[in-house]
Amino acid sequence: MPASGRRLILVGAAVSALAVTACQGPQSALNVAGREAEAMADLLWVLVSAGAVIWVLVLGTALFATRLFPGPIDQRIGNTIIVVGGVFVPTVVLGALVGWTMWAMSELRTPDPDGLRIAVSGEQWWWRVAYERDDGTVVPSANEIRLPAGEAVTLELSSPDVIHSFWIPALGGKMDMIPGRVNELVLEPRKPGVYRGQCAEYCGTSHALMAFSVVVMEPDAFETWLAAQAEPAQAPPSEGRQLFSANGCGACHAVRGTGAEGRVGPDLTHVASRLSLGAGVLPVTEEALAEWVAHTRLVKPEARMPPYDMLPDTEIDAIASYLAGLE
Ligand code: CUA
Repeated sequence: MPASGRRLILVGAAVSALAVTACQGPQSALNVAGREAEAMADLLWVLVSAGAVIWVLVLGTALFATRLFPGPIDQRIGNTIIVVGGVFVPTVVLGALVGWTMWAMSELRTPDPDGLRIAVSGEQWWWRVAYERDDGTVVPSANEIRLPAGEAVTLELSSPDVIHSFWIPALGGKMDMIPGRVNELVLEPRKPGVYRGQCAEYCGTSHALMAFSVVVMEPDAFETWLAAQAEPAQAPPSEGRQLFSANGCGACHAVRGTGAEGRVGPDLTHVASRLSLGAGVLPVTEEALAEWVAHTRLVKPEARMPPYDMLPDTEIDAIASYLAGLE
């Protein structure tokens, strides 16, 4: 084989490898882990396959007519080709696809009346989360969503100010979060694991920094986790707790059980049990917490929370240490 041919094959292999690896990962609609995502992936593959077949047929016909038999054809055969290929086939194919899509949409969007409900509000630029338990109690959280595998969960999506779009590609389609209304999204995750969600509608400066972790757990583990999240914080008196209170952090953040009851920012009662900080932008470590408290707007431009870089490093470290203990 000549060198140029070999080079072409290598380039082709590299491009294919890139394309295939893009289908993997925690935020891929092709790395399917839920019922709605499965239905959408099925629809995608049917569309791609049918499109490929139609493309080959159309090109084949064009080549046949221009290269193999370029002469005129019988008027009646020509009319038949136009009616069948131009009217009948597209009507049947597109009609079937529309019918299938409509059926799948109504099937997948029907909430389970006894299922878990989670209210999620898109904020600038984080996610307010509240689990509504069977006994009527509500468990507040933020920037992370945990779901029981195999159960249809209804997410009540809203926003207080601007439009966001809630999207967990591995579990299902995206849905807008619109001020003044509640949109219901039903998701039935099937595979336990850690996935990633992202705001999918431009909502301001830090739109791209508005992500969240999605943890799909076995139902028993989920119930245990939710019961632990409902508990007040394990926060023995410490310098960090005292500084948190003295600097007014509790006016915006709640740490249940400590007197901090703010509702403006994320609930921090169990912040250290989460997989990320600042809506998917930092890991949850003492260093990252200190970085966030001191330089909030360097980490997340135009965040509503003001940076506390006027505090001495020792005080910031003490607050970070307190927060890192809130598991
Ligand atoms: Cu929220 Cu983009």
